[in-house]
Amino acid sequence: MIPASFIQELLSRLDIVDVVERYVPLKKSGANYVACCPFHQEKTPSFTVSPTKQFYHCFGCGAHGSAIGFVMQYKGLTFPEAVEELAGWLGLTVPYERGRAQGSEPARPTLAERMLDAARFYKARLKSSPHAIDYLKRRGLSGEIAARFHLGYAPDAWQALAEIFAEYDTDASLLACGLVIENEKGRRYDRFRDRIMFPIIDGKGAVIAFGGRTLGDGEPKYLNSPETPLFRKGEALYGLPQARQAIQAEGCALVVEGYMDVVALAQFGVGHAVATLGTATTPAHLKQLWRHTRRIVFCFDGDAAGRKAAWRALEAALPTLSDERSVGFLFLPTEDDPDSFIRREGAEAFRQLLQRPLPLSEFFLAELASPLDLASAEGKAELAHRAISHLSRLSAPLLRQQLIQALARRADLPAEEIARRAGLPAFPRRPAPPPVARMRTRPHGIERTLLAAVLDRPERAARIPLAWLANDHAVGAALASICEAICHGELPADNVGALLEHFRNTPHEELLAEMLAETEVEKDASVEMETVFLDALERLRERRLAQEIEALTAKARSTGLSAHEQRLLAQLLAQRKGRPGDG
Ligand code: UTP
Ligand code: MN
Repeated sequence: MIPASFIQELLSRLDIVDVVERYVPLKKSGANYVACCPFHQEKTPSFTVSPTKQFYHCFGCGAHGSAIGFVMQYKGLTFPEAVEELAGWLGLTVPYERGRAQGSEPARPTLAERMLDAARFYKARLKSSPHAIDYLKRRGLSGEIAARFHLGYAPDAWQALAEIFAEYDTDASLLACGLVIENEKGRRYDRFRDRIMFPIIDGKGAVIAFGGRTLGDGEPKYLNSPETPLFRKGEALYGLPQARQAIQAEGCALVVEGYMDVVALAQFGVGHAVATLGTATTPAHLKQLWRHTRRIVFCFDGDAAGRKAAWRALEAALPTLSDERSVGFLFLPTEDDPDSFIRREGAEAFRQLLQRPLPLSEFFLAELASPLDLASAEGKAELAHRAISHLSRLSAPLLRQQLIQALARRADLPAEEIARRAGLPAFPRRPAPPPVARMRTRPHGIERTLLAAVLDRPERAARIPLAWLANDHAVGAALASICEAICHGELPADNVGALLEHFRNTPHEELLAEMLAETEVEKDASVEMETVFLDALERLRERRLAQEIEALTAKARSTGLSAHEQRLLAQLLAQRKGRPGDG
């Protein structure tokens, strides 16, 4: 653990402009610096670095962060690695604290430490196990790639881990992280025995689980860690830390089914692949990937199971899509997985397939139509019927229009009719509302607008009456935390980068990232933003007023009001009357 105070100290000494400039040539533009974004392909610069906010942001792809975030993203480093690197430039030594002082959840860091110890042990054991090395060689893996993915070997013994864990028989954390199993008699034994070990590493570099492959035909072929506080199977992606940089370079993430597929592809120079862990693709998987790229290609076997997996991936993707994001599907020959394909046909052949995946729209229509007879009226009606529920889940409006039109052609129905049945406006007559108005109508609108304004200029936090905020939802809670941190002087009032780092690894992290990525809408709206902010403050005041009036009126009806409360109510009512436009 690196103390938060050190992070703030580091950020206050660094200038993000110098940091970014080491890697990307910047041009001055007004108060900011700009460049073509290093994180996606573009011809006109939308990557902006703000020296006042100590923050970078790409209006094209939504990438953003502090100086630390930039180094992580650019060089594919973990948080501590990036901190080490930047501290090194300044000649500072990074102080580390062990665990959390007396945190409310001492279990978590300990579990992660256990997992890391185990991963190191397995890795060391691989080196001294000829038959495991032999297995990997037979499967064509290089030593280099085994090291890159930290592959290991769990010895063929019941209690091999007792060698590194002195409290093997008693320590609850070993059970909790799934490394050992306890039988009915209370005797413990290693979960993983005589297996090739694939550590599953999260975005922060922590080992959260293992997959263990049998070297022979034992069952199951892959044994995985159980769900633990560190590991949720439906969310984890194998190989993400190793793939991050390649995903950025390729502008695309490739999702495959197996551990071996990820590793084999990487060995052949196709580094941007990750795998789900024997589960269907979930929106949680996709959400993580969309942070790194705007394009995802799913690569599954060409057999029935592969198509089914692809369809589930499509269903998971629909609500996460937007018109800047695209999804494609690549189907391999029936007998292949990516591992066998690339080994037989070579990297070039695989890359060629990768160039022309099936677009989501085509896969969608083809899959729905495949069991139907589109020559018949019934078949056409059925096609439209099947598509409709999916269309309403698709969150990309332009793509939705396209699909409705394509569907209309195939089903021989008017596009308006299909749109109407899907509960969608077919071709919106009115243009979309301007971004400011749109923000107003979103859930928790006031808090959301205030939060956007604070992320635009953190010093605005000091002008928000904390007590008036509703913090029974994520947006309000995040906003309240920021206001508190700034008012208590824990954070500088102008530094967006420092703000982001302050909330790293907290429940607010994800929301802040989402909001900052959305800043796109208010691209040139810094002046407007002040108006929007003042307007939101006013609405906050009105809401508060209405709440107080309502509470007092309710009390008047039930128990009656004291003289003081009556006066207060009269004052509040007068204040509200004074407001124009109140209904
Ligand atoms: P596959 O059976 O396709 O395995 O399962 P694979 O990755 O090609 O492995 P090799 O090439 O035979 O070694 C795909 C994925 O499904 C999960 C694993 O995540 C695996 O990588 N799986 C499979 C399990 O979790 N348990 C199993 O018993 C089998
Ligand atoms: Mn395989």
